[in-house]
Parts: sequence; structure tokens; C-alpha cells
Amino acid sequence: MTILILGSGGREHTFAWKTAQSPLCTKLYVAPGNSGTADIAENINIGVTDFPAIKELVLSKGIEMVVVGPEDPLVQGVHDFFLNDEELKNVPVIGPEKAAAELEGSKEFAKEFMMRHNIPTAAYQSFDASTVEEGFKFLESLQAPYVLKADGLAAGKGVLILNDLDEAKAELKSMLVDAKFGNASAKVVIEEFLDGIELSCFVLTDGKNYKILPTAKDYKRIGEGDTGLNTGGMGAVSPVPFATEEFLSKIEERIVKPTVEGLQKDNLPYKGFIFIGLIKVGDDPKVIEYNVRMGDPETEVVLPRLKNDMVEIFNAIANQTLNEITIEIDERAATTVMLVSGGYPEGYEKGKEITGLDQVEDSIPFHAGADYKDGKVVTTGGRVMAITSYGNTYSEALKKSYQNIDKLHFDKMNYRKDIGFDL
Ligand code: AMP
Ligand code: GLY
Repeated sequence: MTILILGSGGREHTFAWKTAQSPLCTKLYVAPGNSGTADIAENINIGVTDFPAIKELVLSKGIEMVVVGPEDPLVQGVHDFFLNDEELKNVPVIGPEKAAAELEGSKEFAKEFMMRHNIPTAAYQSFDASTVEEGFKFLESLQAPYVLKADGLAAGKGVLILNDLDEAKAELKSMLVDAKFGNASAKVVIEEFLDGIELSCFVLTDGKNYKILPTAKDYKRIGEGDTGLNTGGMGAVSPVPFATEEFLSKIEERIVKPTVEGLQKDNLPYKGFIFIGLIKVGDDPKVIEYNVRMGDPETEVVLPRLKNDMVEIFNAIANQTLNEITIEIDERAATTVMLVSGGYPEGYEKGKEITGLDQVEDSIPFHAGADYKDGKVVTTGGRVMAITSYGNTYSEALKKSYQNIDKLHFDKMNYRKDIGFDL
């Protein structure tokens, strides 16, 4: 089977790594890809939302399946684009259709979905420019901290958590009236602050059946001890030690089942991955957000623990036969530590040569913001590479990641030395 993966991060390198291991995959393309995917697949330099170029690629290379990594093409309707095109409609796309991708594309849509299907989440109200004053009143009725969420996609920056009421009001106005996040903050969801520890649950669905993948926990802040600015994710561990059987069954009964049933009831066509961001409040799980794709760097610890053939799973999703698949999970823990460019998540330099990759033993370097230039691997982004390891415990796995990181180098390389510190 000839397969195309869309995307260029650590998540997509991990998808490519796992897909390339399948005997069912005879030719693998990644668009646009990175240095990691270049080693195991053929990179094609087209953008993930350039639908006409994707069409031409699929037709010219005889591509038989498309796996979508990031949210942008899904929210923009890449799956619908295929279904509505006579020449593409029989090429399966792994990823929800546009209507269902609104679960990530609009926070208000996601909240309304959860309310409709009785899925536990923070209490909320949503506002637009014409209701700013009501928004102020709602803030006054809440206790600090105040959680403000831009409704639309804002590159992971659209959530503000503020301790001061006046500051929260000023930010609300800036989002709604001054378009702080452009059109993404034309609506703002204000919600109750949930106090607890976060984890993520990953679900495969074919629209009828579902399978639950291992849990993972990601470390979003740039600084040790979870301090400083938010990033795309600085590291991850799987499984999450505090996610006991009992807690996992609450997640399945109260959240996963009603989510998949809700998609069917609401006629939201979904064939792909659902990433459910959760918070454990007391002993109960509540949903913070839905994403309509896998997480990054969570993928770098979840897929390495999946023993199944990736292409068999993709086929089952496409053919709605996921009920025939038994998910098999490696008992070992997996951890990943993200190497980032100095300065990230603010300004940083690119084009730095990465050395030591040939010295890495017993870990898998999943490339993210890295690419080949003149035969060398150089940095091309803020998050550069995720170093994944297995271990009998997550501490053992982390030790391997850190030992290998000691062998790697690029100018101004930064990483968190405390992944897993809170477990
Ligand atoms: P999101 O983009 O929705 O994942 O939100 C970004 C981060 O904000 C989450 O990972 C949480 O750490 C935090 N967050 C979002 N909603 C809440 C909430 N209601 N209470 C507490 N923290 C939240
Ligand atoms: N690591 C969080 C995300 O992928 O959104």
C-alpha cells in the first residue's frame, strides 16, 4: 500500500516510523516531513493545507491512504475535500471530517457538545464583542483564577489563566474587541478553573467502534517545576502512573463512550484519533479540551508502546472494522524529552548543526524541527527533537533519554531536566 502522511513534526516522524514497520506499507511519503522522515520515507515539499497540491501528489504517486498529523488541514476540511472529489473519493483519509473537527476548531462547539452529551467538564459561558459587559459580570461571579479561551485555533496560545479580576477583564476586552488572537478570539469561552493534575487519553474511532490507546502526560511549560511560558510540549511519559484501572474505567464510561456515541448522534463523521485532554479533580476525570489528532510529544511515547501493525489499524478505521482489532500494548514505560532551540517558545535562531546522532544507543530520536542541509542535520524550528526511550519504569526510561541527550549537541540547545518530576 502506498501511504502519505501529512505533517512535519515529531508526531509525524513517529507515525512514519511506526507505519514503515508494517509489511502492508510498500511505499511511504511524508509531506513536507523532516530529516527524520527523510531517512525512512520520501519527503515531498508541499504544505499540509495546500489541497490542490495534495490532490496532484496523490494522483501522480498512486497514493492509497492519507494520514493527517496536524489539526489545521482537518479543521479546514481536507477529509471533505477528498470525499467531494470524484478522483479522490475512494482514497481513505485518517482524520475526522470538517464538521467533527470543530471539536478542536471551536471551544464553544466542544463545550456545547459536552453539555449535550453529559460529559463532565468545567462550567462555562461564552461571549462575543456584543456581550463584553455580560462577560465582565460573569467574571465577577467567579473566583480567581479566571480561565479565558479564544474560541478558535490560536496555535496553542489562546488560553489565558489570570489571577487578577481587572486583568481578566482587560484581557477579555482585548480578545473580543481588539482581536488579540485575530478572528480566533471573536468569541471567548470563560470557564470555571479546575484544580488537579492533567493527563491525556487517546482514542481511535472508526465512527462506530472505538479503542483506547495508552494514557500519556505531557509537560507543557518551558521551565523546570512547570514554570514559565507554555510550549507545544517539552516531554511526555506513558503510562501515567496515577491513572489506575478504576480511574481509567471512569474515563471510559463517563467520557469516551458518550463522546463516541455523541459523534454518532450528532452526525459528526469521525475516522481517526481523538485526543482528550483531562484533569483529575479529586478522583474524577473532567475534560479540558478535545483535539482531533494525536498529541505532540505524546505520540512519541504512545505509538512506541503500541504493538499492533499500524496499517492494519488504519485499514480498520477506514473500513469501520475497529471492533475486529485487539489492541496490544508493550508493558514497558516510554518517556520522551524534547530538545528545543535556545529562546523557544519566544524568538530563537535556526540552522544550527545537530551532532552526536550517530552516538545514540537504546533511544529513538524523533526529529521535529530538523532537516537536512548540505548533508548535515540542522535545526529548523523551536522544538527540534524528541528523545524517546523504553524502561521497566518511567525513571529507567528517562535515565536512558538523558544519557543519550548528553551525547547530542547544537548551539543553544535547551531541554527540561525534570520530566516526570511530579509523578
Ligand atoms: P487548552 O489549550 O484548552 O489545552 O488549555 C491549555 C492549558 O490550560 C491546559 O493544558 C490546562 O493546563 C489549562 N486549562 C485549560 N482549561 C482549564 C480549566 N478550566 N481549569 C484549569 N486549567 C485549565
Ligand atoms: N502536547 C499537546 C498537544 O499536542 O496539543
